[in-house]
Amino acid sequence: RSLSLSISAVSQNATNPEAQDALKRALAKKAVGLVKPGMVVGLGTGSTASLATEELGRLIRKGKLKDVVAVGANYQSRVLARQFGVKTVDLNDVNNIDIAFDGVDEVDLNKNLLKGGGAAHTMQKVVDSVAKECIILADQSKVVLQLGSTFPVPVEVLPSAISPVLRRLVTLGGVPEIRSALRKDGPVITDLGNMVVDVSFPNGIQNPSELEKNINMIPGVVENGIVSGVATTVLVAIQDGENVIVM
Ligand code: 5RP
Repeated sequence: RSLSLSISAVSQNATNPEAQDALKRALAKKAVGLVKPGMVVGLGTGSTASLATEELGRLIRKGKLKDVVAVGANYQSRVLARQFGVKTVDLNDVNNIDIAFDGVDEVDLNKNLLKGGGAAHTMQKVVDSVAKECIILADQSKVVLQLGSTFPVPVEVLPSAISPVLRRLVTLGGVPEIRSALRKDGPVITDLGNMVVDVSFPNGIQNPSELEKNINMIPGVVENGIVSGVATTVLVAIQDGENVIVM
């Protein structure tokens, strides 16, 4: 389905936190409604994906989704799944994932995604790309006309290669900044033991999939947060007066 229907969401992206939470809950419900008994479900990370995990657990505990197991993209999603009564399995122990749910920091009208606000994009990309159906859950604040409009591009980097990688990111037109840990004196370290560099592109990102490949070709880069060609469906939730519409 094309995202063009959702273009109206672009101009409506200012939302207060409670309203945004209601949008995320509506997305979670809609997405989990697509799961069938016996499926292997991929679970992303972040507040929206967590709500989907909670909803999945609710239906499993009610006995509505028998024999469903989940692959968590990272530590946080696996812990949360167990907490909500969703059985988890290791990615390496399944042949495929039927459906994956994930949140997003930005999505454009061609289903290009920007992820990594939670420094978890590397394994999210693996899980999302393995899934037959990758369902992206976007409240209206996430829809943009051009990626990079509201967020920089997160790049996971091997700590021992940080200086050469920063120099190469500049040659791609980026302005890189090492992400530092909130309330800690030092850089963010990912689940995989790496650093995250947030790269803004002052001239805009004209070709997301080309930039995705170019960044990943830099030796020392593990993965970047641009995800092109992976999302099969983008669910967008918008506030319409008193109502929430998911389309
Ligand atoms: C984490 C991510 C998240 O999916 C993204 O940051 C969206 O988070 P939220 O659902 O909390 O808005 O990519 O790395």
